[in-house]
Amino acid sequence: MTPSLSIPPLTKDLARVLIDADTISRRVDELAQKINHDYKDITEPLMLVGVLKGSFIFLADLCRRLTVPHVVDFIAISSYGQKGDKRGEVRMLMDTRENLSDHHVLIVEDILDSGNTLSYLIKTFKARNTKSVSTAVFLDKPARHEVPVEIEYMGFEIPDVWVVGYGLDYKEQYRTLPYIAEMYPKK
Ligand code: XMP
Ligand code: MG
Repeated sequence: MTPSLSIPPLTKDLARVLIDADTISRRVDELAQKINHDYKDITEPLMLVGVLKGSFIFLADLCRRLTVPHVVDFIAISSYGQKGDKRGEVRMLMDTRENLSDHHVLIVEDILDSGNTLSYLIKTFKARNTKSVSTAVFLDKPARHEVPVEIEYMGFEIPDVWVVGYGLDYKEQYRTLPYIAEMYPKK
């Protein structure tokens, strides 16, 4: 049975839809086309590494549009919102199952905020004898950058507001909304 694709309405926490599902789909198409072009000559599968949990829907949509051979793996990292972690401190909670050495690696992340997470991951993966390390990020908040990070495949720039949907959450809620919504600021 095909799942229902009706669009869930905004709840009381959500101020407005920032990026609708059709716009997301068109942009993911464009990013996949660019990746297919850039990696067309690779001799072994491209290693997609999704950063849990926020990237899981972007990764699922992106990888199903890839025509280049690829494999999928995941990592989990601690973020500064979690208990006991200082701002800017990034730790690996779960590493990839596959060995990344001698692979072209594409990190897939939900959002670039301060840049601490991605700069840590790029540095860590480059130190593993990978053939290359690139990054696909669905959203970017340029106003919040603290560390410079080079992103090869960027979805959308957004303002400095908390967003949910398409994998992103507020206290684990709203990840499965098909659009990106802006939350009302919390008092
Ligand atoms: P850094 O600062 O390391 O952080 O670039 C990236 C991580 O911050 C989280 N983040 C958000 N998550 N809505 C979310 O659901 C947001 O608006 C948002 N802004 C930052 C996210 O976990 C990302 O991986
Ligand atoms: Mg995240």
